[in-house]
Order: sequence, then structure tokens, then C-alpha cells
Amino acid sequence: MAVLVTGGAGYIGSVTVKLLIESGEEVVVLDNLSHGHIEAIDPAARFYEGDMGDEQTVAHILREHDIDSCIHFAAFIAVGESVEHPAKYYDNNVRRALALLTTLNEGGVKHLVFSSTAATYGEPQRMPIDEDHPQHPENPYGWSKYMIERVLEDFDAAYGFRSVALRYFNACGALPGCGEDHHPETHLIPLILQTALGQRDAIKIFGTDYPTPDGTCVRDYVHVADLGLAHLLSLAYLRHGGGSARINLGNGNGYTVKQVIETAREVTGATIAAVEVERRAGDTSHLVADSSRARELLNWQPRFPELREIVATAWEWHSHHPNGYKS
Ligand code: UFG
Repeated sequence: MAVLVTGGAGYIGSVTVKLLIESGEEVVVLDNLSHGHIEAIDPAARFYEGDMGDEQTVAHILREHDIDSCIHFAAFIAVGESVEHPAKYYDNNVRRALALLTTLNEGGVKHLVFSSTAATYGEPQRMPIDEDHPQHPENPYGWSKYMIERVLEDFDAAYGFRSVALRYFNACGALPGCGEDHHPETHLIPLILQTALGQRDAIKIFGTDYPTPDGTCVRDYVHVADLGLAHLLSLAYLRHGGGSARINLGNGNGYTVKQVIETAREVTGATIAAVEVERRAGDTSHLVADSSRARELLNWQPRFPELREIVATAWEWHSHHPNGYKS
């Protein structure tokens, strides 16, 4: 019995592959390496370079391996780019993903763990955000993930194809040998740490007039290994007959941008210059998860609930891999 992981060369995918292998799973990775890094794939996984939307490749993998489940990460993730190039996002994150789901379903694979996002909620109406919060995404990236959540509901009703959609809040942190390496980088913590390394002059703080304690945006930062763990638990849940579910993944603690910068200064010992600039389009003031369902349904217990520890693991990665996987 094997697990197919699409996007297993990416940031969260590669960490999940590592944890799956450590837990004794046979893992097959499918990644087109458009953004992932071949160096990130655990050598114990069987790797296919190819596109999840290519029916022949996926059907070939299903014939060659005894795949019972799929963890689907492969997607474009840049919110701003999705606003400028929606066709690119709907093509990859929806059309190709639908081709994947169809090939899996027709090939008899009936369990899927889906990499979804808090971006499917849009502007929050209450805080913390639980899974029953209305979903009105604010950008094509969020809509593309929302659409696949919708497809999965209908696949369950019609074909008995069961899934867990994991709605991540702010993924961050690293494991030894597995860290964040996006091009271009847009996320707060890696950008702060690149500033600490002297690769950037200053971190820009996007907006200081939000209705938050210090005027900067509040986010729920969750460690990539805790996200990975939730995928393993979701897989076990589905294999034991659990019904389809949508589950938030966050620590339930909100930190402002300024608090994250201050924490990084303590962890790195570096000055880390910061400049205050205008708000970034599309940012909401608060995004904090109610993750009680993950605890109740999956018995998920985050191992890195503290921001300081999360930033320390990210710093360990960035200081040893100043140029990412190419270091
Ligand atoms: N920020 C800065 N300066 C920067 C970069 C970010 O001030 O240089 C701020 C942002 O304005 C935001 C916070 O830091 O307030 C976090 O920004 P990120 O870009 O790291 O993350 P986002 O909250 O924008 O988005 C992340 C993922 C999305 C996901 C969302 C859901 O990138 O894919 O979390 O919570 F949808």
C-alpha cells in the first residue's frame, strides 16, 4: 500500500513526505518541479517528474504502485500573482487538479487529503475563524482552492470519494534539511530572516493603521511539521473510515507583524531594520484559527505552538541554507 503525494518537492509537501517515510509509509512523489526542489524530496520516496494534470502519467503511477490514498499539495500559491494571472491559477489549481481527482477516482483511489487554505474564508466576520465561517474568497487563489473543496464534496456524494481538506493558516518554520525556499519570496518570516542575514536592507511593514494592538496585521503562525503531522493523522482518519471533513490548522494565537519582527531579533541577535510602508492590497487585519475540530477529529497536538520556537527552526534553516536548496 502506497501514498501518492503531488507537490512532494514543495515546502509543506517535502516535510510531509519526510514524516510519512519516517512513519513507515511507502511514498510516491509526483511533482513537475515548476516551483519545488528535487533536493527537498526524501531519497526513500519514489519520484516521478510530471504534471498532476497529465492523466497518462497518473494512470501509469496507479498501475505501477499499490496507491490507496493521495495527498494533494501541487498548486500555485501566490495571492498577488493570482489576481494578475487568474487563468494561470484556474488552469493549474482547478483544471489540472480536477483531472487528477478524476484519474484517481476512476483508478479506484478513494481517499484524498487536500491542501486548502484560510484564504477560502475571505474577510473574516468573526474571530477566531471556525470551519463553519462563511467562505467568500477575496482572490483567484482562494477561489481556486474553494472550487476544489466544492468538487470534493460532490465527488463524495456521487462516487464515495472521501477527503479531508486542511485549511492552513500561516505556514512557517523548518525541519533540519527541509525549509522554505520560494522564488520570489513573499512570506513574512523568511523575508525577516533574509534581512537578518544581510540579504535585504530592511523588512517592510505593510500597514500600521489596522485595528490591532500595535496597528500591524495579526496572523496565526503554524509550524510546517505540525501541518505535516495533520496530513498523517488525516490519512489515518480516512483509512479508518472517517467521513469527509474540512479542518482548520492554526495554533489559535495571533501575533502582529511587529511582534514577529521582535521575536526574530531575539532569536537571531541581529538588528533587523524595519520600515513602515503602505498597506498591501488584499490583507485583512486579523486571521486566527479555531482549530478545535483538528484536535477533536484528528487528535492533532501541535509540537511547536510557540512563535519563538517556530522562528528558531526557520532561522536554523536560513542560516545554514542562505541561498535555499542551492546553498
Ligand atoms: N507582511 C509584511 N511585510 C512583508 C511580508 C508580509 O508586513 O514583507 C505582512 C503581511 O501584510 C501580513 C503578514 O505579514 O499581514 C503575513 O504575510 P504573509 O505574506 O507571510 O502571509 P499571508 O497572511 O498574506 O498569507 C498566508 C499564505 C496564504 C494563505 C494565508 C492564509 O501566504 O497562501 O496565509 O492565512 F492564504
